Amino acid sequence: MFKHSFVAAFAALAFSGSALAQDLTGGDPEAGAKVFNKCRACHMVGEDAKNRVGPTLNGIVGMEWGKVDGFKYSSSLTEIAAAEGKRWDLATLSAYLEKPRDVIPKGRMAFAGLRKAEERADVIAYLATFGPDGATVDPAPVLEAAAGEGS
Ligand code: HEC
Repeated sequence: MFKHSFVAAFAALAFSGSALAQDLTGGDPEAGAKVFNKCRACHMVGEDAKNRVGPTLNGIVGMEWGKVDGFKYSSSLTEIAAAEGKRWDLATLSAYLEKPRDVIPKGRMAFAGLRKAEERADVIAYLATFGPDGATVDPAPVLEAAAGEGS
C-alpha cells in the first residue's frame, strides 16, 4: 500500500516535471506583458530601456547572469555566476521568478515571486520578444535555444 502510493507520487512528479519543461516554451507573450506589470517598478525592456532598481531585461532569455552594462549586481549573484557559469535558461529563469531567494540566496531582487507556472511561462515568452538591443524579435527560436541548456 505504502509502496504503491509512493510510486504513484513519484510518477506524478516526474510527469509534471516534463510537462513543465514544455510549458516553459509555450507561454503567451501578450499575457506575459500584463504579468510584466509586476516587474515594471524595477525593470525596463525595449529600445529606450534604462537600468532602474533592477537591470534592463533586453535579451535576458538565455543570457549569462549579471551581464547588463552599468548595473551593479549583488555580490551573491556575481559570485554564483563566476563559480558556476550560469545562464538564464528557461528552467533557471522560472525557478528564479518563482522564488528569487532559492536561486540567489543573498540577491538583491526584493520580489515575492510568481507562484503560477503559467504566469512564469507567459512572462518569459514576453521577455523573449526583446532582443539584446531592445528591438522586437521572434520569441520562438530564443525560447527553443534556452530550453535545453540546463545550467
Ligand atoms: C523590487 C524590485 C524588483 C522587482 C519587482 C523585480 N525585480 Fe528582477 N531584479 C531586481 C534587482 C535589484 C535585480 C538584481 C539582483 C542582484 O543583483 O542580486 C534583479 C535581477 C533580475 C534578473 C537577473 C538579471 C541579470 O542581468 O542577470 C532577472 C532575469 C529579473 N530580475 C527578472 C524579473 C522579472 C521577470 C520580474 C517580474 C516578474 C522582476 N524581476 C521583478 C529587482 C526587481
